Amino acid sequence: VRIIDQTLLPVEERMLDLATVDGVAEAIRSLRVRGAPAIGLAAAYGVLLSLELYLGSACPRRPEYFFDREEGMKPFEPDSITINDIRQTVQSASSVLAGTRPTAVNLFHAIGRMESAGKRDAADARELCRLLADEAFAIHEEELEVEYAIADNGSPLIEDGMRILTHCNAGGLATAGYGTALGVIARAHEEGKRLTVFADETRPLLQGSRLTVWELKKRGIDVTVLCDNAAASLFAASAVDAVIVGADRIASNGDTANKIGTLNLAILCEKFGKPFYVAAPLSTFDYGITSGERIPIEERAVGEVVSIAGHPVAPPETKAYNPAFDVTPASLVTAIITELGVIERPDCSKLLGIKGVKHR
Ligand code: MRU
Repeated sequence: VRIIDQTLLPVEERMLDLATVDGVAEAIRSLRVRGAPAIGLAAAYGVLLSLELYLGSACPRRPEYFFDREEGMKPFEPDSITINDIRQTVQSASSVLAGTRPTAVNLFHAIGRMESAGKRDAADARELCRLLADEAFAIHEEELEVEYAIADNGSPLIEDGMRILTHCNAGGLATAGYGTALGVIARAHEEGKRLTVFADETRPLLQGSRLTVWELKKRGIDVTVLCDNAAASLFAASAVDAVIVGADRIASNGDTANKIGTLNLAILCEKFGKPFYVAAPLSTFDYGITSGERIPIEERAVGEVVSIAGHPVAPPETKAYNPAFDVTPASLVTAIITELGVIERPDCSKLLGIKGVKHR
């Protein structure tokens, strides 16, 4: 599984080859790969990676021996592998990957799809592996199509000359390649609309300044970074026309979890009468929970707050409050832009009413 190591951006563009499920899990935990849709894709491929030994002649690095955790080195005899071996491997890979990050529901949707694929009928282990490989690639391809559809649906909301504030990174890095919030901005830019984008730096891990600015510059879109605490003054200066962000999990009433600091922007939009848009695929919706109170919020390490790039910025032993996400109540969301259309003033019945919703 090849990823760009997002922790090194924008200083270095280094590709990282992940060879094991544990490697994929570490990459998700440490945010080498991050963003709700992207961690779902990494997990789907991570499950597939756990099956590499079983993929038979399709695998160019097919080994003569393989390592069994219980029994050590065993000869690799593809014909002796059973469907049950595959299902057990999928289960154990899934549980490792599901333990990485709790908030983005895309991770659990992707793992759930791989687990269901693993339960399908197959003539033998090899065919089951093929079904699982097809599923992982399908998740990736579908997600990319979905991002283009979100951009199609969101772009009409963006007017020529708009000044847009975004938070964290919801671009190609965070997704299957085009982006959600940044995909809408990119599409409007491609259509010739002149845009000014403001990117919150997004403390503590600076996804805004490191990643969003990097992506927008590559796309030739005008961007200005600001400290998160400068957002209110930007609104007060009448310099923001709209906010657009991504999401990590949307409850069935429209409450939306996204990167910590998103709620600040929603409150500012309400105060200054500006639209607050969320762009997200249906794989980010969690119809299993009724409100945002039920969204598990990841608490991250103290060190992320009390140091920057390894340099202490607080005295030793300082305590820190470091939730990775906050929840914006649906009442503050002007609209959610999905692949199936725009849900204005989201609520339970509108979310349930989206045509074609699949409870994945
Ligand atoms: O902790 P991160 O960097 O994974 O958080 C990512 C975000 O909050 C994004 O805004 C969200 O996942 C949407 S990505 C399309």
